[in-house]
Amino acid sequence: MSWLENHVALVTGANSGIGLAVVRRFFEEGARGIGVLIRSAAHVDALQKEFGDKIVITVGDVRSPDANQEAVAATVDKFGKLDTLVGNAGVWDHFAGLRKYEGDSLKSTFEEVFGVNVLGYLLAAHAAAPALRESHGSMIFTLSNASFYAGGGGPVYVASKHAGVGLVKQLAYELAPDIRVNAVAPGGTVTPLKGPQALGRENDRLSDIPGFADSVAQAMPLGFIAQPEDHTGHYVLLASRKNSSATTAAILQSDCGWEIRGRQSRKTQK
Ligand SMILES: NC(=O)c1ccc[n+]([C@@H]2O[C@H](COP(=O)([O-])OP(=O)(O)OC[C@H]3O[C@@H](n4cnc5c(N)ncnc54)[C@H](O)[C@@H]3O)[C@@H](O)[C@H]2O)c1
Repeated sequence: MSWLENHVALVTGANSGIGLAVVRRFFEEGARGIGVLIRSAAHVDALQKEFGDKIVITVGDVRSPDANQEAVAATVDKFGKLDTLVGNAGVWDHFAGLRKYEGDSLKSTFEEVFGVNVLGYLLAAHAAAPALRESHGSMIFTLSNASFYAGGGGPVYVASKHAGVGLVKQLAYELAPDIRVNAVAPGGTVTPLKGPQALGRENDRLSDIPGFADSVAQAMPLGFIAQPEDHTGHYVLLASRKNSSATTAAILQSDCGWEIRGRQSRKTQK
C-alpha cells in the first residue's frame, strides 16, 4: 500500500518548482485528489492537461482570505475531505541588502514578502483548519535554510522565513491534538522563484542568477544543488498518518548540509 493512498491535499503555489514537484509525488504515492491555489490563470491549461480531473484549480492570491477559503471549499467539494494542506507559495528578495532600499521600497517590499510568505501561510492555515480538524489531518509549510541561517537572502526574506518557524510551532501547539503541523526547509534549489514587484524583480528568477547553481553546489557539504524533486519525500513522510503520526512541530531540513558548511576543509587538514 502506498503512503498516501486515498489522500486529499491542497497545495499553494503548485504551478512550478517545489509545489509542482510535491503534487506529482503525492499522486505517485497514491493521492486521490489535490486542490491547487495558483496565482495566474496562465497555468491552468498545463495543470489541467497533466492531471485532468484529479486536481481542482483555484486561481487567486495567497494574500487574499477569500482565495484561501475558495481553494479549501473547492477541494472539499470535489474530493469530499482534506487530509493535508501544503502552504508553499513564496517570494524571495533577491538578496536585497538594507543599503539597497530607497524611499518607500523597504516598506513595500516588507509588505509584499511578509504578505506572501507569512500572511499567506496563516490565511491558508485558517481556511483549512476546520476541514483538517475533521479529518485529523496535517499542515506542512515550505520554510528554508533562511529560516535558520543568515545569507539565504536579504533581511526581509530571511526574517519572513524565520517567522515561519514561529508559525509552525505556535500552530502545532494550538491545533494539537487534532492537526499535526510541520515544515520542510529546503536549501538552494533550481526553481523559478521570483522577486518582489516592489523592487521591480517580479520576473527575475532565482535559477537565472549567473553562477548560482555552481556556487551553491560548491558551498554545500553534499556538493550539489537540489532539484525540487529532492525535497518531496519529506512532504510525503510528514503527510503520511501511518509514518509520522507522532510528529508535530518538526522542521525537516533538506538543504545539503547548510549547518555543517566548512567542516570538510577541517577534515581534510589532518
Ligand atoms: N528555490 C529555492 O532555492 C528555495 C529555497 C528554500 C525555500 N524555498 C521556498 O520554496 C517555496 C516554493 O518556491 P520555489 O523555489 O519552488 O519557487 P517557485 O517560484 O517555483 O514557486 C513559488 C510559487 O509561489 C507562487 N506565488 C508567489 N506569490 C504568490 C501569490 N501572491 N499568490 C499565489 N501564489 C503565489 C508562484 O506563482 C509560484 O508558483 C517558497 O516558499 C520558497 O520561499 C525555495
